[in-house]
Order: sequence, then C-alpha cells, then structure tokens
Amino acid sequence: MYVKQYLSKLINQSLNIHESEMVINNLVPPAQPEWGDVAFKTFQLASKLNLKPVELALSLEQKLNQNQEFKAKATGPYLNITFSTGFICNLVLDHVFNRPSPPPPPEPQPTVVIDFSSPNIAKPFGVGHLRSTVIGAALYRIFKYLGYKVIGINHLGDWGTNFGMILTGYEQEGENTTQLEQDGIKYSYQLYVRTHHKAEQDQEINNRAREWFNKLEQGDPKAIEIWKRFREFSIKKFKQTYQRLGIEFDHYTGESFYQHKTDEAIDFLQKKDLTEVDQGMLIVRLDQYDLPPLLLKKSDGSTLYATREIAAVLYRLDTFNPDLLLYVVGNPQELHFKQISAALDEAGIKIKEKLIHVKFGHILGMSTRKGTLVFLDDLIDEAVRRAKEKMQENKTISYSEREMDFISSKVGIGALVFNDLKTKRIKDIEFNWDRALSFEGESGPYLQYAHARIKSIIRKSSQIPRYQPDSVLDQLNQPEEKALALAISDFPMIIEQAAREYEPSVISRYLLDLASTFSKFYHSCQVVGSKPELLEARLCLIEGCRITLAKGLELLGIEPLNKM
Ligand code: ARG
Repeated sequence: MYVKQYLSKLINQSLNIHESEMVINNLVPPAQPEWGDVAFKTFQLASKLNLKPVELALSLEQKLNQNQEFKAKATGPYLNITFSTGFICNLVLDHVFNRPSPPPPPEPQPTVVIDFSSPNIAKPFGVGHLRSTVIGAALYRIFKYLGYKVIGINHLGDWGTNFGMILTGYEQEGENTTQLEQDGIKYSYQLYVRTHHKAEQDQEINNRAREWFNKLEQGDPKAIEIWKRFREFSIKKFKQTYQRLGIEFDHYTGESFYQHKTDEAIDFLQKKDLTEVDQGMLIVRLDQYDLPPLLLKKSDGSTLYATREIAAVLYRLDTFNPDLLLYVVGNPQELHFKQISAALDEAGIKIKEKLIHVKFGHILGMSTRKGTLVFLDDLIDEAVRRAKEKMQENKTISYSEREMDFISSKVGIGALVFNDLKTKRIKDIEFNWDRALSFEGESGPYLQYAHARIKSIIRKSSQIPRYQPDSVLDQLNQPEEKALALAISDFPMIIEQAAREYEPSVISRYLLDLASTFSKFYHSCQVVGSKPELLEARLCLIEGCRITLAKGLELLGIEPLNKM
C-alpha cells in the first residue's frame, strides 16, 4: 500500500488530477512477474480523461521515466513499473518504523457495534460460540485499529424457559452454593441436564419449571434473586475464560436486559400498523420480503428471542447511534436476522445497510479427550496441554518451567484461534488437533514460530535494528529482498479489506504469505555473518517484517512469541 500510495501520488501529480482512489484501485500485479513490480491498468482513468488507454499508458511512461527510482514501460493499455530494491525498501520501512498507525478515519469518527460470543447460560458454550468469540474479537480489534469507535456487546442468552428448569433443580437438589460460586457455567448446565432428564419421566417437574419461569417473568423477588446469582456466577466464569483469550466486552447486556423493553418495541411496531393477531399469536407479516412472519408473542402472551432482538436493535440505535451494527452469529440464524431487518425496514427505520449479519459456518470434528466439546475452558486446557507435550518432545531447545507454561499457553490458544480464522468464515471447517498445532502447516503456531525465528536472528546479531533515511538500504538488491518489502507494503490495504469484508481470514492468509516470503528470503540471503552495512540493512528489513507479523497476529488475537 505504501508503494501504491506513492505511485498514485506521482501519477496524480504528473497528470494534474485528483483521482487517488481510482488510481490505487487500478494498480495490480503485472500479467507476467518479470514485467515489473506493479502494473497500472489505464482503462478507467483514460475513459474519465477522454483518452485512449494506450495513449494514456504511453504518456505516463514518458512522464514517469524522468524519475530515477523506477522504470516505467507501457505495454498496450498497461503501464508496468519496476522499482529499485533499495528505493522500495526505504519507502516501506520508513512507514513501518516511523508511521506505524493507519491514517485517522474520516470525521466524525464512525461507530461500530459488534455483538459477539453471546453464549447461553445453562447451555454448553458450543463451538459456534467459540467461532463467534474469535471472529468477533478480531473484528473488534481491526476496527479499533482503523480508528473506529467500537462497542463490543455480549448478548448473553440469560433469559428463557430453561431457567425454570434450573431453578427447579436448584430447589429440589438442595441449593449448592459452593458449586455455583466455583463454576456457575458448569453447575447451571449440569442442573439443567439432570432436571430436564427427570422431567421426561415426571410431569410434575415440568409444571414446577413452568411455575418458576412464570414467577421469574412476574418479577417474584425470590426467583429473581436466585436467577441473578446464576447469572452473576456464570458471567464471572465466562470472564475468566475470555481473559485467557485476551478478550473483553464493553457490555454484558443479554436478553434479560430487554425483558422490560419488549412492550415498547411491540408498541412501536403496532403504531406503524404492522402487527396482527394470528391464531392467538402476535406477528408481523413479511410476505412482501418473501419471508415467513416474525413472531412477537406466543398465544400465552410470552415474548420470544426475536421480540427481544427488535428491542435490542432499537436500544442500540438509540444509545450508540452506530454506523454499523454487526452480529457475529452462525449461518443457522440467517432467517432470524433477515426477518428482524425486514420488520424494521417496514417500520421505516433505515437499517438495511447498517445491520450486518456476519455469519459463519460450522466447525466439524472438534472434541476433547473427555468427549465432544462442552466447555470452552476444557478446550483451551486441552490445547495448552497438547502444545506442552509437543514442546517437551522437542529436545533441541530447553525451556525453564515458567517459559514452558507461558509458551505452551500462548501456542495452544494461538492454534485454536488461528484455526477459526484461517479460512473464509462462511465455510465449514474441519478441525484436527495435529494440524492446528503443527509448527509447519497453515497454523497459528507456524506464524508464532516465524516471529520467534526473526527475533532469534536479531538476538544473534547483537545489534538493534533501526531505520535511518539515507541509510544502508541501498545495499539491498536481491529479488527476495524486494519481494519481502513488497509483501510488507500490502499490510494497510489488507487490514482495510478485512474490515470492509468483515473477514479476519484476509489477514490470516496475508500473514501466511508474509511468513513464507520471509522464509524464501532467509533461505537465500544470509543475515548474521554478512558484512556490516549489508547486515544493518537486512536487519532493518527483517525487523520491518517482524513488526508487521506481530501487528497482524495481535489483531487476530494471537500472541507473537519471542522464543518457541
Ligand atoms: N445466544 C444466541 C445463541 O446462542 C446468540 C445471540 C446472538 N446475538 C443476538 N443479538 N441475537 O444462539
């Protein structure tokens, strides 16, 4: 990008125009790699300037070739440009070392609300929630990095009939406050499962569960008090687990938060004349959108997930005035979000471009040694244990106890996180422990290892890499050096693309490419042991690569390691 910005500026200046964006969008890789480093596709600009593309390419060739730093050659409607390696390295590394943050976003600062993770209390934290957590947190960091105001919301499933079951179990089994306080998530889940199981044989239990939920809905103080404790201790446990992943939320406003806001939401739709009663149920017809009706109230008068969703959208629009409302939720809820968006659109709220369902596919085959995955904590533990085993097998490096614990924890988590982010989110992914933890394949540990390797080269050199303007970078003239600088140059564009497409995997793919470009460089270019000026130049280049790799990993939620 640094390179593209630079070229675009030159082209604009030489033609005396202001079309940076269009020029940048038409800078592409040359048809044949040996034709140059970048090609400018002239069609669009030519048509704007009322010129023939071939003529524009030729005239640009003449104008730009007054420049020493590169060669421009017109080939039909394309202008192929070849830079000197030293020049490219200077341009790119100057940015990386001296201007590491992206330019500020447009004023006023845009706001994005991201709804992610959002597990259900008393149900297992499934792999779907893991994906939502990891993808959502990456988007959170990406938008923050780009200068957006970001609000992360955990829309917990903390309300609903399953709490009737839990409260019944709690009452019947004798209130086990120790278990509740230790791990609210596991305890409420196990209570739920046991009571649900009993209820299958005993109708009385079902009745009692319904009673408890009714009490809850009526605001009965005892019911509310117990429910609050379950919620509180579940959140406490969730927070501990999120902390292991380095994730925080700005708000834990789950479904229960909207229980008293549903009347207002229904009112709003009623006033717009959108609701009707059908077989005792309150619905919004969405025939004109080719969608089934949205259900707002069951015949017994109780509200639903969708009712609370409408209330939540209205609340978020009102409270945060967002430019974007992202919902990082799996594919199966596609219809739900289409209905929500359609109903609000029908009510005259301009929501279509704002409300984005950032959907994702399934993870297949993810289980721990204890069985199919139920709790996120167990999954993380297993990843860390497996990472540790791998490190212990490796006899070539010795680690202190503390190092071992730290590294295996970061490698295990890196493996899990990257597994979720390495392919386009819409695709189903096949999970495999060995592949996720492999130090060679397309994995988090592979990237962490690439980072550690650069660190180790720099340590061996006993020098501090630095960038100086008139520097030794002119020493660099190998194609692998240029390739590495060009790869680093793409970073800002990649981050923007990831944000535009709500797709962290754009960054994952890029980092894999960057690491492999580095490997090729290191394979053919010696660093430690080169003569002093070349050593200094190459150290600067690999440090630029390291900084970029580290930033990319951080955005994904993976710790760049210094030793592995
Ligand atoms: N708790 C829901 C589930 O597990 C996900 C909630 C997603 N967020 C939302 N605003 N609907 O299915």
